[in-house]
Amino acid sequence: MRTFKFLSILLIVVMVLSACTTGAAAKKEIKIAILAPLSGSQPSFGQMTRDGALLAIEEWNAKGGVLDSKIVAVVEDSQCTPDPAVNAANKVIDQDKVHYIIGEVCSKASIPISEIANAKKVVQISPTSTNPDVTVDKEGKTKDFIFRACFIDPFQGKVGAKFAIENLKAKTAFIMVDQANDYVKGLASFFEASFKEMGGTIVGTESYTGKDTDFSAILAKVADAKPDVVYLPDYYNVVNLVAKQAKEKGINASFIGGDGWDSSDLDTAAADGGYFTNHYSPDDPRPEVQNFLKAFGAKYKNDKGEAKVPDALAALAYDATNLMIQAIKEAGTDDAVKVKDALVKINFKGVSGTITFDAQHNPVKSATILAVKDGKVKFEAVVNP
Ligand code: PHE
Repeated sequence: MRTFKFLSILLIVVMVLSACTTGAAAKKEIKIAILAPLSGSQPSFGQMTRDGALLAIEEWNAKGGVLDSKIVAVVEDSQCTPDPAVNAANKVIDQDKVHYIIGEVCSKASIPISEIANAKKVVQISPTSTNPDVTVDKEGKTKDFIFRACFIDPFQGKVGAKFAIENLKAKTAFIMVDQANDYVKGLASFFEASFKEMGGTIVGTESYTGKDTDFSAILAKVADAKPDVVYLPDYYNVVNLVAKQAKEKGINASFIGGDGWDSSDLDTAAADGGYFTNHYSPDDPRPEVQNFLKAFGAKYKNDKGEAKVPDALAALAYDATNLMIQAIKEAGTDDAVKVKDALVKINFKGVSGTITFDAQHNPVKSATILAVKDGKVKFEAVVNP
């Protein structure tokens, strides 16, 4: 009898407890998808992006979430590649029913995602995709639901050209380009136009593909052309290969690139003497930057247990996620149409600078130049639009 009584009480306790937990879980949820390349050739891009976005979500949830709802992240590996990116976008929209997407990192994946998100009225903010076509369609019309947290490549290419001519006193440039990558192709052509406009001469342009690993034929042409600078606006994994082979060939022209160089996996010995345009520097003393560094380092550690230093991808993912949640708050409702209207009007002070959107949904922001020197990536200059 006693045991029976005990068991009944236990049962009631268990029922009450589980009712409590279901009650807590029943708090409303707002889902935000994070689409990033977690595998493939640039895994550091995806990991940093995911970690920056998750930190922002954690901070909002610690303060009670948004609109009295808990924010829930839905993370998918979109691989910096169109097909997996499209599958991931369809999955989070159709199955998980998200109204908000942070991603992708790479322009060539963000462009196809933007077509889907815009058609299905889902708000997308790409933290890092710099190609103009992400937010604007073929007819030049702004895609209503698509935004980004970074500057765009016409500006980034111009900053690279200006730095080469004014700071490095370059007169000639050689351009290397992967024609199959929207980002690389776009940035190369914007650099070329600006470099010529400022009086420089392009002494050669050579194409390769993303699968190439041996660049000796192209580098032989670079050695012959003897340019002052080589513009290589690709991702760090390609830069590592090309820069190493160039050093072995005795080429000493400065290599210049764009934000795709930003990775803790950049081979700083091979790329020594190079420069790249970027969105942010951890050396920036602004409190937004320093507070972010502290919070990120407290949450994420490297293999040795030391605080991780966030790169531009982490900073922009953090900004993009905060932007999205701030817009949801300002809209006052979990309705993608209202949230995109709130974004159009937003004035947001982020880690990567103050963000307001122009008519094409691009933030107008300054760029930072970083130098690769003595095994380190160092702050060199800030260039305003
Ligand atoms: N800007 C790149 C693109 O559009 C992505 C990128 C951003 C890579 C920042 C590294 C750092 O594809």
